[in-house]
Amino acid sequence: MRRRSFLGLVAASPLLIGSRGLAAADDLGRSATRRVPLPRPTVVGAQDLTLTARPAVVDLGHGSSEAWTLNGSFPGPTIRIRRGERARITLRNELDEDTILHWHGLNVPEAADGHPRLAIGPGSSYRYEFDVRDRPGLYWYHPHTHERTAPQTYLGMAGLIVVEGDEEEALELPSGDFELPLVLQDKRLGPSGDLRYEPAMGHDLMMGFLGDTPFANGVSDAAIEVQRGVYRLRVLNAANARIFDLGLSTLDPMTLIGTDGGLLDARVTVDRVMMATGERADLLVDFSRYAPGNRITLRSHPFTIPGMGMMGMGVGMGRGRPGMRPGGMRGRGTMGGVGGLQGTAMDLVEFVVGDQRGPDAPALPARLTTMPSPAIEADTPVRRFRFNSTMMRHTINDRRFEMERVDARIPQGRTEIWSIRNEAGYAHPVHVHAGQFRILSRSGGRAALMPWETGRKDTVLVLPGETVDIAVRFDDHRGLFLLHCHNLEHEDNGMMANFSVGD
Ligand code: C2O
Ligand code: CU
Ligand code: CU
Repeated sequence: MRRRSFLGLVAASPLLIGSRGLAAADDLGRSATRRVPLPRPTVVGAQDLTLTARPAVVDLGHGSSEAWTLNGSFPGPTIRIRRGERARITLRNELDEDTILHWHGLNVPEAADGHPRLAIGPGSSYRYEFDVRDRPGLYWYHPHTHERTAPQTYLGMAGLIVVEGDEEEALELPSGDFELPLVLQDKRLGPSGDLRYEPAMGHDLMMGFLGDTPFANGVSDAAIEVQRGVYRLRVLNAANARIFDLGLSTLDPMTLIGTDGGLLDARVTVDRVMMATGERADLLVDFSRYAPGNRITLRSHPFTIPGMGMMGMGVGMGRGRPGMRPGGMRGRGTMGGVGGLQGTAMDLVEFVVGDQRGPDAPALPARLTTMPSPAIEADTPVRRFRFNSTMMRHTINDRRFEMERVDARIPQGRTEIWSIRNEAGYAHPVHVHAGQFRILSRSGGRAALMPWETGRKDTVLVLPGETVDIAVRFDDHRGLFLLHCHNLEHEDNGMMANFSVGD
């Protein structure tokens, strides 16, 4: 693996990093923290789009930093496209290393999927053309460069894709100002508030690169004034490794209407949604119940992951209580590392309630969608994938990723059950390219499906000791696709496999 320092920075002492992030995470000194207006990413179409990968100085809210951007924005521009339309996108590479983009969650042909073997060198371009067959919903894009997905994504080259379509529009969901896209991340900042990606050999490569400063739409300490009505929050966890246990500071109910692959069959009321990296949540939040001037925070509540203690890190059982630090330790000098622990509380966005009326809750039908499910028969074949992390190696079925090796040959147009087992002491959000799957069951660990796991999914969190069965089926495209952990440090360090569909 290549080791280098980024953005021209020499490796500074990691001990200097992150006092501001600590204050936000601990809910202390709120009045002392300057809130930053939540930006809305710029919106672009996809019918004739050029995305240029290049370094640029960006505004992080409390200062500026060099980032690796697409068209100079951080995060990348939001691509809006309608189902049935054809995307024509050119990627230009003005970085000084290889790159390639992947359209996460979209069911695209092999040549448009951004497999690392398609990466292009500095000064080159890559042309993507594909029909958008996917259901309306929130998808995203990020680099997929061999062993460089983590730094390139972290430094800014990720953005949202909104697929529009009739199925959603019929519901008359809150839109315009009342539709809020939220790209959630965590970062580690240098002493001058600059973005840096400098993973330490041990902890950061095993846990993944955790930051202590929460980011929403490219800024920390984000705040937005909301009116007293219902908002649609369209949330992406675009972190490298951090899992968010997302909920309001009040733990008031939210209505979940969709996830990775669009609308759920039926809405569900939740007070939290646990979102691993790569996962999306489509939430309706009613601010009309609050008085003008109230401040409500969208936060990641603290949690601990049972079984996630094997390397002496973050030992603990059960869920943390708000205000409690998981495992009772964090920060420098512990195995928690400079970015904090998985499960540390983080305040992501503050909503300041205004005095205007906003939209009422949409009248949602009992069934939001009528998507058929793939049929599971007694003789549906089962394929097993074991995810393991030992001694700095992240493997699937005991093997690290190799660019040209085909790890599984999958027939086209046939339903299979993939049984995914986490044998390691780390959380693995497992992601499958080339479309959406259904989650059938979970055994071990939490031993149940979560309310947000009932729809179409492309990423599923598999905690230590869990086995999750999913139903997959690839109808549309033959070719080579990927299965991998979406903890980007795990992915870059080998936790990825090639499967070929149709031959
Ligand atoms: Cu979002 Cu192969 O990844
Ligand atoms: Cu993907
Ligand atoms: Cu993993």
